[in-house]
Amino acid sequence: METEIKIITQNWGRINPQSIDEYIAAGGYQALFKFIKEMDPEIAVEEIKTSGLCGRGGAGFPTGLKLESVQKEKVTEKYFICNLDESEPGTYKDRMIAENDPHMLIEGIIIASLIVGAKKAFIYINGNYKKSAEILERAVGQAKQKVFLGPAILHSRYGLEIEIFEGAGAYICGEETALINSIEGKRGEPRMRPPFPTQSGLFGKPTAVNNAETIANIPWIIENGGAEFAKVGSKKSPGTKLFILDGAVKNRDVVEAPLGITLKELIDNYGGGIYAGKEFWFAQVGGSSGRLALEKDLEMKLEYDREAKIPLGSGAILVVDKMADIHELLLSWASFFRRESCGKCVPCREGTFRLWEIAKRLRDGEISDRDKAAIEDILWTLNNTTFCPLGKFAATAFGDALQYFPKEIYKLSK
Ligand SMILES: Cc1cc2nc3c(=O)[nH]c(=O)nc-3n(C[C@H](O)[C@H](O)[C@H](O)COP(=O)(O)O)c2cc1C
Ligand code: SF4
Repeated sequence: METEIKIITQNWGRINPQSIDEYIAAGGYQALFKFIKEMDPEIAVEEIKTSGLCGRGGAGFPTGLKLESVQKEKVTEKYFICNLDESEPGTYKDRMIAENDPHMLIEGIIIASLIVGAKKAFIYINGNYKKSAEILERAVGQAKQKVFLGPAILHSRYGLEIEIFEGAGAYICGEETALINSIEGKRGEPRMRPPFPTQSGLFGKPTAVNNAETIANIPWIIENGGAEFAKVGSKKSPGTKLFILDGAVKNRDVVEAPLGITLKELIDNYGGGIYAGKEFWFAQVGGSSGRLALEKDLEMKLEYDREAKIPLGSGAILVVDKMADIHELLLSWASFFRRESCGKCVPCREGTFRLWEIAKRLRDGEISDRDKAAIEDILWTLNNTTFCPLGKFAATAFGDALQYFPKEIYKLSK
């Protein structure tokens, strides 16, 4: 395990994140030098396509293809956005990148922006993450002083400005079109697609939105080549991944592991196994919006795969032990989605509220036969009729729990 490759966390704890000189001494900004001196944006995007890098924000979309589609747009005004909203409970990997190695992220943002032809980039961060925003602000200032940012980066033809935009802290503003609305000063709610942001995004201009962890991989790929990156991790989704381990594991932390690792290996080798005296019940994979993995799923590979029964999502893994109170879990999921529903569409606005009411009655042993029938309807409606994926997310873990543990859930019912 010790010899496994570290891409994102290679500098964590080894350099002072507030010092650009320490980042440079550790080999930082070499990828930017290489890009400016030796590469065309078209060649750089080919390297990213070859790497097989896909989005770490949840959906796993191929990063090279996204950057290429913005690159190909024949307009002069384009934007690049680093998505650091990260408002899902239990997910904090992107903040860890910002706080432990802000320059790796900034170097990735600069290269990605120049690849697509953007002269302005935004880092969209949840406004509650003051510490991360301050560290990033300082790092941007240092990069400007070194002429890694500004009107003529390293005295080349390329220019870029980075603005840190603090959102109000709404989960829906992590969804890329709601995020774009928020930067434009509009209500943070999703837009109809198409058009996709790559064609018509921020201020109606072609825009690439990428997750912070996705972007932090770019300097390594440019420096070492896409083919080298493709050798790491699994064939279906190359590279490493930050996993956030939480719940009944000994080591509750953010860890970097190769994609394709099994859930069991992750819990045992990186999480230090299950906490003494506790017994594995299930794991929630991918944050509050994630599905539940049972004991029989422990050998499942964690990778980005459209066919996967349990999608990897943001990489947050909550290990739940047999002593956990399933009613409190149902209520905490339902409360979160009820609070974060943006209200734009009725099925989600009403459905998340009704689910929360029922979760309270389940906890209090006051569930009726009418409620039991209603749950099925509400989950179906959330799964099939909402405007954006948040509605589906609200039904995911709740639906899995009802399917897997009906005895435990209805045991208090009259
Ligand atoms: C409700 C909701 C919340 C989301 N929150 C985030 C988030 O906090 N960070 C993020 O990177 N992507 C989030 N996404 C996914 C983004 O819409 C988008 O797919 C992602 O930023 C693209 O980057 P990637 O291709 O690098 O993963 C969210 C999506 C939905 C539907
Ligand atoms: S599904 Fe929920 S979050 Fe998405 S648009 Fe509808 S109300 Fe808003």
